[in-house]
Amino acid sequence: KTLEKGSVSYQSPSNIALVKYWGKYGEQLPKNASISFTLSNCYTKTTLSYQKRSLAETSEHKDFDFEVFLDGKREESFEPKIEKFFERIEKYVPFLKDYKFKIETTNSFPHSSGIASSASGMSTLALCLLSIEKQLVSEKIPQQLFNKKASFLARLGSGSACRSIAGPLMVWGEHPDIDGSTNLFGTNYPFEVHDTFKNYQDTILLVDKGEKQVSSTVGHNLMHDHPFAEQRFKQANDNLSKLIPILKEGTISEFIKIVESEALSLHAMMMTSMPYFILMKPNTLEIINRIWNFRKETESNVCFTLDAGANVHVLYPEPEKEAVSTFIETDLKQFCKNGEYIHDHTGEGAIAL
Ligand code: PMV
Repeated sequence: KTLEKGSVSYQSPSNIALVKYWGKYGEQLPKNASISFTLSNCYTKTTLSYQKRSLAETSEHKDFDFEVFLDGKREESFEPKIEKFFERIEKYVPFLKDYKFKIETTNSFPHSSGIASSASGMSTLALCLLSIEKQLVSEKIPQQLFNKKASFLARLGSGSACRSIAGPLMVWGEHPDIDGSTNLFGTNYPFEVHDTFKNYQDTILLVDKGEKQVSSTVGHNLMHDHPFAEQRFKQANDNLSKLIPILKEGTISEFIKIVESEALSLHAMMMTSMPYFILMKPNTLEIINRIWNFRKETESNVCFTLDAGANVHVLYPEPEKEAVSTFIETDLKQFCKNGEYIHDHTGEGAIAL
């Protein structure tokens, strides 16, 4: 079948890892298994318009033909990353050079918030491309298979993007305790989850909105000659094993220990690499200490996790929403840049628009 022109749109959320992926090999394959909550309110919407190139065009120009627009404005700085993505996935979606593409993308969160848009952005793009492929082959592809391939492609754009296709809990990386887990794509967490962890809340405190000091590409590469790398990969896999009964039984105090330790271990890897980095800011530490105090004083189950940056993800069960929101508004807010934070919660993943 030939497709002359058209457009497809997808919305895909960001995700927050409980057990972190940090370190990769080969073509974006993880050195350890990771698990994440898929979010809802922090998402990217992408429209991919395509127009068939003439034979003359494709034979003259053997390169990819695309333009990227963020919030309606051409964004050339995104193009090298997408060029690289296209190179990696061309063998799986071989029609890429037959079309001229316009990629129009918007994020629900501020561009300069320090919230990484690579997971939500790359997964929307993977889904759009796959939906074009589906039309080209005009075959009925079962949703599960479609999701697997979308996740497989998203992974080649940005590793953690493969966990943004579905939700609310996604696993990526081969793990002995989880049947069907693979390094190639993310899959839904297959075991029982206690009500405590349903509709889990994540308020993202925007501590530092600046550009990342270390790109995740550089960060992952620093794990190659890292003195603690092997121990770290083992620790992550062990933590995932420990989480399975915790998620089933709803033992939140144990959940907190693993989640906070994972966040600090991720940052410890950056502090002990060569070159070394401190991605936390003074306000990150201030917030962490206040969360610990709040937990001691009120028996709240609030905890924190971190990405590769200074922002703090404040995690808590739904019934504690009011108490924690008040704590954030009256206390933690002062440590956020311009007092900004975003309330989010777990969700089901990407949707076609
Ligand atoms: O997807 P990448 O290559 O940007 O890596 C991100 C890794 C962390 O966000 C720091 C952890 C994770 O598992 O999401």
